[in-house]
Amino acid sequence: MARKGPSPGRASQLLDWYDAHARVLPWRAKPGVAADPYRVWLSEIMLQQTTVQAVKAYFEKFVALWPKVEALAGAPLDDVLKAWAGLGYYARARNLHHCAREVVSRFGGRFPETEAELRTLPGIGPYTAGAIAAIAFGGRHAAVDGNVERVISRLYAIETPLPDSKPEIREKAQALVPEQRAGDFAQAMMDLGATICTPRDPNCLICPWAEHCEGRISGLAPSLPRKKPKKKVPTRRGTAFWIERADGAVLLRRRPEKGLLGGMMEVPSTQWGEAPASPEAEAPLAARWRVLPGTVAHTFTHFHLELTVWRAETVQDGELREDGDYRWTARHDLSGEALPTVMRKVVAHVLGEG
Ligand code: ADE
Repeated sequence: MARKGPSPGRASQLLDWYDAHARVLPWRAKPGVAADPYRVWLSEIMLQQTTVQAVKAYFEKFVALWPKVEALAGAPLDDVLKAWAGLGYYARARNLHHCAREVVSRFGGRFPETEAELRTLPGIGPYTAGAIAAIAFGGRHAAVDGNVERVISRLYAIETPLPDSKPEIREKAQALVPEQRAGDFAQAMMDLGATICTPRDPNCLICPWAEHCEGRISGLAPSLPRKKPKKKVPTRRGTAFWIERADGAVLLRRRPEKGLLGGMMEVPSTQWGEAPASPEAEAPLAARWRVLPGTVAHTFTHFHLELTVWRAETVQDGELREDGDYRWTARHDLSGEALPTVMRKVVAHVLGEG
C-alpha cells in the first residue's frame, strides 16, 4: 500500500502543542531530548498493562532497584515477579526479565534501534517495537494504542467500527508521522488522546487539531470510535482454601509454569470452571472448613472468575497431600509474595473478615 508522505502542517501543530503541554512522566525525556531506551522499553511494557497513573509508582520502583538493563538482567526472576505483583499478567514480567537478558547477551546491553530487531526480543510486539523505535531512536513509526485509535478515528471521522477499522487507522496515523521528532510526535498523540481527545467528553475547544478534525466538524467526535459489540465472557467458579497454621503461617502454592498466571504464588484453589460439586476433594488437606460469606470476583481477558473462600484454622503441619509446590508464608510476609491481583483480593477478603 502506498504511504502518503508526512503532513508537516498537522505534525508541527501537534508538536508545538506538545512543547507547551507535554505531560511530565518519569520515563520521559523533555521534548526534543533523546530518551534512555531502557526507560522507554520498561515504561512501554508496563503501560501495556495498565494506566499511566498506575504505572508511575512501579516504574520508579523498578528503576530504583535496577537502574540499567544489566542490573535487571542480573536480578533473580523471583525478585522481578515480586516487584511486578499487582500489575497483572506475569507472563509480561517473565518476558521483561528474559528480554533484559537477551539485550545483554545478544546486543551487549544496548537496545537495538530498528523496529525489526526490537521485534525479535521477548515481549516486544508490533506496537511496542514501533513505540520504542520512535521514542528512543526517532524512527518514523506511529505508535497506535487505544488513545491514538480514538484520535485518528475522530480526526478522519472513521465510522467503521473497531477492530475492523484498525488497518485504516494505522495507515492514517503512519502518514501523519513527521521525519523529525517522530518520538515526540508519538507521545504527543498519546497525550492528546489522554488529556483532550478523551473518550466521553472531548475538549475540542482547546485541541490543536480542531480546525482539521472531521469528527468535530461533523459532530460525530464524541461517538467515535465506534466499536463492535463485545462477546460476552463466561463466568468460571472455584473455591480457594485459606489454611492457617497455629503459628499464623498461611499455605500458598506455586502455579504451574505454563498457563494463566504461570509460576505465580496463589492461595490454593480448585480448578476454575463449573462450580465444584465437592471442593474438599481438591483441597490440599483434609480439615474442618468454614465457608466465608460472599465471593471474590475478578475479570481476566477471557473470563470472569468467582471464588468462594473456605477457611481452615490451626491445622498441623505435615498433613498436606503430596502433589503441589506448597510453601508456608507468615501472614505479615504475604504482601511481599508475588501474588497476582486475584489472590490479593482473596487475601483482602479473608483479612477483611477479621
Ligand atoms: N501509553 C503508552 N505509552 C505511553 C507513553 N510513552 N506515554 C504516555 N502514555 C503512554
